Amino acid sequence: MDKIIIEGRNKLSGSVNISGSKNAALPIIASTILTAKECVLTNVPRLNDVLVMNKLIKTVGGETDFTGNTLCIRNKNITNFKAPYDLVKTMRASVYVMGALLGRYRQAEVALPGGCVIGERPINLHLQGFERMGAKITIEHGYIKAKAKKLKGAEINFDVVSVGATANIIMAAVLAEGKTIISNAACEPHIADLARFLNTLGAKISGYGNKEIEIRGVPELKGCKYEITPDYIEAGTFMAAAGITNSKITINNAPLDHLEIIIHKLEEAGCKIKKTGTKLTVQGIERPKPAGIETRPYPGFPTDMQAQWSAFMSLSSGASIINETIWEKRFMHIPELNRMGANISVKGNTAVVEGVAGLSGAPVMVSDLRAGASLVLAGLRAKGTTEISRIYHLDRGYERIEKKFEMLGARIKRVK
Ligand code: EPZ
Repeated sequence: MDKIIIEGRNKLSGSVNISGSKNAALPIIASTILTAKECVLTNVPRLNDVLVMNKLIKTVGGETDFTGNTLCIRNKNITNFKAPYDLVKTMRASVYVMGALLGRYRQAEVALPGGCVIGERPINLHLQGFERMGAKITIEHGYIKAKAKKLKGAEINFDVVSVGATANIIMAAVLAEGKTIISNAACEPHIADLARFLNTLGAKISGYGNKEIEIRGVPELKGCKYEITPDYIEAGTFMAAAGITNSKITINNAPLDHLEIIIHKLEEAGCKIKKTGTKLTVQGIERPKPAGIETRPYPGFPTDMQAQWSAFMSLSSGASIINETIWEKRFMHIPELNRMGANISVKGNTAVVEGVAGLSGAPVMVSDLRAGASLVLAGLRAKGTTEISRIYHLDRGYERIEKKFEMLGARIKRVK
């Protein structure tokens, strides 16, 4: 299994290009099932999760061609409405095909996605939404089956803000009869990207980016060419890398509108941020000021940046509190950071970070995608060598992360 080896304490410099957003690409690729016409997606990140979603499209009968960062998809003849367990178990976002298959064919059979290390990850809100629109849901032998004579627009209120449920109901609603209103909807940039993509196909979605989204059903969708938006979590990860290594780097294509809270917190910690057009330059700091966070649905501080922030705050000049309100087990990176000399204690969903002056390199193990990002950041700062194993988790969400950091001057390499 591949490992990443980092010799720490190297300053970073120069600029980096951010890849397309994983969490936008996954629902957008799934949503192409809703049309028989060709969709050409550009700026698609070459990530393991995207390769799994691509395989899922082929499994249901779609034709795809993924060259470079351009993915062409033709879902003319979908012949199979089943997402098999061997794919779903490797990527929970497979559940997105349920909304698309139900939306176009009024039937879908998807393996129950298990939980993962960060939490149980239920999909009750997805299923309740489908039922509100007229689908009959049965669960047996580890598969969810959904069938509907017709899908009718409905008023759907989520008692918990859910990115996945919002995306899945949007997909089920675009071809349904009548109007669907989703209240307490997710406002994440990747939901807006999905809505913009579907509107480019001829859907009628309004209100996205706010808590209430309206979808008016249309008879069919056409094809289009669409560019996936840059990934604000990847951008935030590189900004935190500048912070923790006390370096100055430029993000060339930063999605500035999506980075407000991350910019605010980095400035609170003492980093200097300069925006010039879509370029964003970050000057880091040797000992950041303590800046606590509480993860919240967008536009709050993203849970997908919590692990990276924990690493940055481990070097702060004081104590900071990190509250993780979205996932019940998203502190798996903390024991590994402490093995590198951090001083973080966890009680329930709260971590208390007592800043230390430095970290020391160590062999560490990745438990999940963003925990992996946090260990790379810590390795870049630490004195000595950090050997990071199980980096397949990282490859799910970061395109060639070690190459990008190498280009910025880090002493980092991937070894077999
Ligand atoms: C998406 O997961 C992201 N994944 C996650 O990013 C991200 O952490 C999460 O949204 C929150 O922003 C993708 O977009 C592929 P949710 P998702 O439904 O959709 C509860 C990463 O690192 N909930 O918004 O699975 C749930 O337990 C990944 O890129 C229900 O109770 O998350 C959680 O507490 C990790 N019932 C909260 O809602 C449901 O039916 C938010 O979950 C659905 C969710």
